[in-house]
Amino acid sequence: MKASDTKATLSFSNGGQAVDLPIYKGTLGPDVIDIRKLYAQTGMFTYDPGFMSTASCESAITYIDGDKGELLYRGYPIEQLATNCDFLETCHLLLYGELPNSDEKAKFTDLVTHHTMVNEQMQFFLRGFRRDAHPMAIMTGLVGALSAFYHDSTDINNPKHREIAAVRLIAKMPTLVAMAYKYTVGQPYMYPKNDLSYAGNFLHMMFATPCEEYKVSPVLERALDRIFILHADHEQNASTSTVRLCGSSGTNPFAAIAAGVACLWGPAHGGANEAALNMLYDIQKAGGVEKIGEFIKQVKDKNSNVKLMGFGHRVYKNYDPRAKLMQETCREVLGELGLENDPLFKLAMALEKIALEDEYFVSRKLYPNVDFYSGIVQRAIGIPVPLFTAIFALARTVGWIAQLNEMIGDPDYKIGRPRQLFEGSPKRDVKPIGAR
Ligand code: CMC
Repeated sequence: MKASDTKATLSFSNGGQAVDLPIYKGTLGPDVIDIRKLYAQTGMFTYDPGFMSTASCESAITYIDGDKGELLYRGYPIEQLATNCDFLETCHLLLYGELPNSDEKAKFTDLVTHHTMVNEQMQFFLRGFRRDAHPMAIMTGLVGALSAFYHDSTDINNPKHREIAAVRLIAKMPTLVAMAYKYTVGQPYMYPKNDLSYAGNFLHMMFATPCEEYKVSPVLERALDRIFILHADHEQNASTSTVRLCGSSGTNPFAAIAAGVACLWGPAHGGANEAALNMLYDIQKAGGVEKIGEFIKQVKDKNSNVKLMGFGHRVYKNYDPRAKLMQETCREVLGELGLENDPLFKLAMALEKIALEDEYFVSRKLYPNVDFYSGIVQRAIGIPVPLFTAIFALARTVGWIAQLNEMIGDPDYKIGRPRQLFEGSPKRDVKPIGAR
């Protein structure tokens, strides 16, 4: 951490002693005020629910400039990665800090490819679920269960265990998501095929059957690979912070990632892609483009609890760069499939246009986020709506594990343990039951 020459001075209106607090500078983004000694010096905590002004850690992985609408993985703009690299190169970058050269890429691809199968017992574990279980419910269970199958990579304090757990998780997530899907539709599980790309293999495990040859479409393969790249990491979002907090207790990596999956499920986070598509279906059913005005009116009504899903972001106060790339992919995929006139895509474009001109959204700097278009692409590929968030989890796994390993590798890391402003009853005595 680079200390700034400036210090912050905290003074108190009751004449209490002022304290100087160090300020640190990152390579990009706002400086931070170091309050670690604040409690020892003043007996006070800071109060920041929702982490509105709190940097919870140091990190060198991902950076977002919310005002510019810029996203960098290890310094590289997302647009360049999405157009020049594939997902496994992106994984290498996030995990090890650099894009691989061709030898490194071949080695890493080979490593991941040879860990795509899951222990054969996993399918019996899966059988315990109802066929109509939500894929995220299944994924939370399956990912947590990996720790029961891979005992040799559960010691989070051992760098070798951390590395092999990272590879296993990245390699096995597509297999698990595809298994969760096949289970719900009652089709046989398809084993991974090592001559396919990461995205191609996932399409194969999802849509092939043992009865006939499945040919991976290069356009859909590329689109899916781009979805994976765009979702790979995103700074200290809710699920990543969950993974860090969970991992900070020293639990095993599979358990920490399972916590991330559970957090991602919520509609304010990864569940928004499913919610955004369902919202488009509902508007379509109610009458389509003509009903947008009525829907927007509901969104603006504070008592309605209706949100424009796929819009707004805690950090982006400009167009989410991932949404632009996703819109481009959406056009390509719909074009490839002959669905250029897809009514949901047209509805989404019309909804976006109206919202971007509306004072409510303009004044609050609410723009489309990645989830606004990703559902339309996934649906066109043939992925069922309830599986959307599981695809997000698959892609975000590399980000979670890179962030977790960064934290554990830091010699200064401590268990995460926030404090509180207590508002409950002061100490009191228990009365005998008859006297209460
Ligand atoms: N529709 C309508 N109003 C909104 C929306 C929306 N989608 N998002 C924010 N607002 C309003 C909000 O009501 C508030 O208005 P006011 O100041 O009058 O009370 C103002 O904008 C600020 O919103 P906030 O809730 O304080 O902002 P936040 O940073 O706490 O929430 C968010 C961020 C992503 C949870 C929120 O924008 C939201 O719920 N969006 C819809 C869900 C969504 O698309 N989530 C995906 C996020 S991107 C993918 C990911 O990282 O998971």
